[in-house]
Amino acid sequence: MPGKHDDAGRTSMVAEVSPPRVLRGEITPPGDKSISHRAVLLNSIAEGRARISNFSPGADCSATVACLRALGADIRRRPSEAATLEVEGVGMRGLKEPADVLNAGNSATTMRLLCGLLAAQPFLTIITGDASLRSRPMDRVIRPLSLMGASIWGRAGDSFGPLAVKGGHLRGIDYTLPVASAQVKSAILIAALSAEGATTVAEPARSRDHTERLLQAMGVDVRVESLAVSVAGPVGRLNAVDVHVPGDISSAAYWMVAAAIHGNARIKLRDIGVNPTRTGVIDVLLKMGAKLRIENQRSAGNEPLADLVVESSELGGVEIASNLVPRLIDEIPVIAVAACVAKGTTVIRDAAELRVKETDRIRDLASELSRLGASVEEMPDGLAIHGGGKLRGARCSSHGDHRLAMALGIAGLTAEGKTIIEQAEVAGVSYPSFWQDMRGSGGV
Ligand code: S3P
Repeated sequence: MPGKHDDAGRTSMVAEVSPPRVLRGEITPPGDKSISHRAVLLNSIAEGRARISNFSPGADCSATVACLRALGADIRRRPSEAATLEVEGVGMRGLKEPADVLNAGNSATTMRLLCGLLAAQPFLTIITGDASLRSRPMDRVIRPLSLMGASIWGRAGDSFGPLAVKGGHLRGIDYTLPVASAQVKSAILIAALSAEGATTVAEPARSRDHTERLLQAMGVDVRVESLAVSVAGPVGRLNAVDVHVPGDISSAAYWMVAAAIHGNARIKLRDIGVNPTRTGVIDVLLKMGAKLRIENQRSAGNEPLADLVVESSELGGVEIASNLVPRLIDEIPVIAVAACVAKGTTVIRDAAELRVKETDRIRDLASELSRLGASVEEMPDGLAIHGGGKLRGARCSSHGDHRLAMALGIAGLTAEGKTIIEQAEVAGVSYPSFWQDMRGSGGV
């Protein structure tokens, strides 16, 4: 991939993708980003030693590790086994005031989960992030944590980072999230571990439940009743637990779509996490007519795992809305690529959350897919994509969003001619070996 420098001297990569004649192979995507964040954060405040294998190599999870270390966590990585972390828990009262500002980089999960952790720590922490993260809404986490007794300040009337967090004595709350969000739910549950009395978080639709599963494995009595989750605090201790992180279904999704839309393809994806709160992309691709098989279903500790095989398919348009949206929110960029190729119209609604992700993904998907010749209508809460036309290679941009970079790369596998993606290096936020895997399977 050719490189160039931006104004700040950072290298910006341009990826060039041409459609290969055949797209075949086996891919083992990196460890799940959401589970990696939670495994290292919760084990850092547990009692005992934990081994976390297949930890995500993405920059987001490295940011979480760096922030936790600055707070006094004992996290080691053997140079010979980069994907394995050893964490010696310091206990729920063992963290200390950091000497400097923490940097969450591009990762909202890091910033929001840390707010939950720091809400009960009796010291001051300042957390910042990159320009994208500093424009993402933090009031959604500040509001409930303040009700519990934490003091959190942010820019623009406590809406945006950098954030200053001063922990305090917390009380349990009964809180209903206005929008389904695993990050906010998790921040509240983590704070609830140290709060006096019961905390219940209810959501309008079920978001990913990795925090609940991990806390249960660590000995916490987490009660789940339909859309509400409760914890009775204070919880004296968490027991350290070894975690083998499953492959990230959000990273696997690029290859599921690649194989389904390419005319001569068969891709096997190994060791993928298939937690039902995350498998919306499988349900949608099957509904679109994808030849997709789930094989070798098993479990890795408290999370389900499987292999997936996807072959060239004739896809049709679908409707995506309501409760399905949180189960595939991060996969919508690549599902939109599938929709461009599918016959008929795909309508995605109830997904206004896409406007407050790493970029405004509704706006940027509409503009970048249109550059490739797709017919895409932007709606306030989603997209209408009229598929079936041929995509044409063109110059487009990730806008600094990892999921947009990879989705456009996948579009390039079927577009006529060459697709050039600017700022392609951002794939490293969640999937550093993405372009390598693309080369291996026949693209780039
Ligand atoms: C995540 C939850 C989702 C998702 C994000 C990771 C998590 O965000 O989009 O990539 O690990 O909890 P929200 O909680 O904002 O929905």
